[in-house]
Amino acid sequence: MSESAPSNQRILVGVSGGIAAYKAVTLVRRLVEAGCEVRVVMTESATRFVAPLTFQAVSGHPVRTTLLDAEAESGMDHIALARWAEQIVIAPASADLMARLAAGMADDLLSTLCLASTAPVQLAPAMNQQMWAHPATQANRDVLLKRGVCLLGPDAGSQACGETGAGRMMEPEAIASAVLADTGAPSRDLAGQRLVVTAGGTREPIDPVRFIANRSSGRMGFALAAEAARRGADVTLIAGPSALPTPAGVTRMDVQTAAEMQAAVEAIETMDLFIGAAAVADYRVADPAGQKLKKQGETMTLELLRNPDILQGVADRAERPFVIGFAAETERLVEHAETKRRAKGMDLICANRVGENLGFDTPDNALLLLWEGGRRDLPKADKTRLAGEVLDTYQQIRQEKHASR
Ligand code: PMT
Repeated sequence: MSESAPSNQRILVGVSGGIAAYKAVTLVRRLVEAGCEVRVVMTESATRFVAPLTFQAVSGHPVRTTLLDAEAESGMDHIALARWAEQIVIAPASADLMARLAAGMADDLLSTLCLASTAPVQLAPAMNQQMWAHPATQANRDVLLKRGVCLLGPDAGSQACGETGAGRMMEPEAIASAVLADTGAPSRDLAGQRLVVTAGGTREPIDPVRFIANRSSGRMGFALAAEAARRGADVTLIAGPSALPTPAGVTRMDVQTAAEMQAAVEAIETMDLFIGAAAVADYRVADPAGQKLKKQGETMTLELLRNPDILQGVADRAERPFVIGFAAETERLVEHAETKRRAKGMDLICANRVGENLGFDTPDNALLLLWEGGRRDLPKADKTRLAGEVLDTYQQIRQEKHASR
């Protein structure tokens, strides 16, 4: 974020009432630092948590709090403000505000602006976990998503109310990154970092014309490589067979088998971050035939040998990088992913529930990120957006580790 190029975007930040309102101050600061012009609108209840003057100081502009304010309306009236905004970001978005937006209400300035503006709206929900889980809030969430509103979070974890669960506002740095990604402003926060990504499936030959493979298209890994390169990282993409174009600024190495993928990874001695997005075959044919196999009996048996675990090899290095792995599961997502994370010594695992038009060979995915002491649910979105959020989470964990030293 520190090296972001000025974006010049006009962003309206809405703040609704909740304890997370104080974190919106950091969000506004980050956006202003990135070169955005920011106007803040607070709901009446938000002003009980943070004084408007605080937001005025960080945004450099007066803060609007009421719809029927004759003095403010004589300057930039609310319709002009709605037209001015190129993006609307509401953080925190309370359960009440989400309900009012879903119902199309215009009973205060912030909800009126959302109705009167054509700008894309992003919400960072923040509320008690039970309120978030309530069917009414979930129904409002679905309505808003269908209408094209983008949700940033919420995160899961311990809450100000003392409970634990999903409902905590995403960290302001992560919100700022997501918002800036939409402005096209290239955040260069990964500059100087060396990243290796594996992507796609491997092909394990049976004979010269047949192989064992899986449905991985490479999209998830390519999106991670593209996003990291866009953010300034030095990226090597080690890809199984895939028709996807090489992302800009990325060094690509094409491989076929798990053994070739392993050799390519092992040849890279130093890296800061390793991401295993590939669906590597767990087994290979023990003795692939040199010539095309002929039909013989009614059944045929292939002897398979276990492939080496590429990610494990990286995690076991003496000078190990930060290791991110993936888990594609069809059942018991959290349990299986957490077991994999611990067994392989990953710093972060991205679990995807595959099937149901998600995961393999689809433009969209939904991920559950798990790390020691943390969890983040990333609802269905295109793989490019998810890649950005995985990298934001990586940055957040690194910064937290650094701060606790
Ligand atoms: O390519 P797409 O069509 O976009 O699909 C994306 C995806 C669904 C393939 C991707 O998001 C994903 O989930 N990849 C991991 C698939 C998986 O189930 O991995 P696994 O559980 O077999 O392995 C766990 C981790 O160890 C993975 O990070 C894997 O890359 C790594 N691994 C596994 C086996 C092996 N021999 N070497 C490895 O490095």
